[in-house]
Amino acid sequence: ERSPIIAPSILASDFSRLAQEVHAIEGAADWVHVDVMDNHFVPNLTIGLPVVQSLRKATSIPFDVHLMITDPQRWAPGYAEAGAYNVTFHAEACDDPVALARTLRAAGAKAGLAIDRDTPVEPYLELLPYLDTILIMTIKAGFGGQAFMPEMLDKVRDVRRRAEVNDLEIRIEVDGGIAADTIEQAAEAGADAFVAGTAVYGAADPAEAIRKLRGLAAG
Ligand code: DX5
Ligand code: ZN
Repeated sequence: ERSPIIAPSILASDFSRLAQEVHAIEGAADWVHVDVMDNHFVPNLTIGLPVVQSLRKATSIPFDVHLMITDPQRWAPGYAEAGAYNVTFHAEACDDPVALARTLRAAGAKAGLAIDRDTPVEPYLELLPYLDTILIMTIKAGFGGQAFMPEMLDKVRDVRRRAEVNDLEIRIEVDGGIAADTIEQAAEAGADAFVAGTAVYGAADPAEAIRKLRGLAAG
């Protein structure tokens, strides 16, 4: 495990002032987490490629793009080309994750695979060598502000065990309900990248909230 990555989710920020909201966490956060939803893969709609392209020019913090969309094969490469650091697509939406991961890497991005609440992780453990990131949802994908589901941490433990046995460099990211009262158990299970929406942007001082989360994750 490497030092923890803290990735605030702008889903919980004020979309009318996105650049300022990103500037508020620059310096304190490692990545900014960008939730792309298409109202098809999930029953919610957020932002897409034009907004990500514009926002990319407004900041230098790495973008961690989480695609909750149908047909990621078609859309994910555009986010890599737009300068995203990490592009994560959902296992449930993709019939050839290894091929898409290869395409993303060729386009200059890290490749991530997301596992939603109702999806077991076992079938995907053999794909870990082809991925840079695996995102374990600790809620059902679609909305911020939901309660953390500790039972999802069994998936984190399974991935961490496999990564250790096979000596893999993969980042294990958790997303959903991560806050001061949940981040330690996620870190203990083996996660080393932490998305936090409400816990950062709902705080009076987002940078201070990030520092607190980082301290708890580092143990
Ligand atoms: C939800 C998104 C999450 C969301 C997390 O589907 O993937 O990134 O922003 O929000 P919180 O931290 O409030 O659970
Ligand atoms: Zn997310």
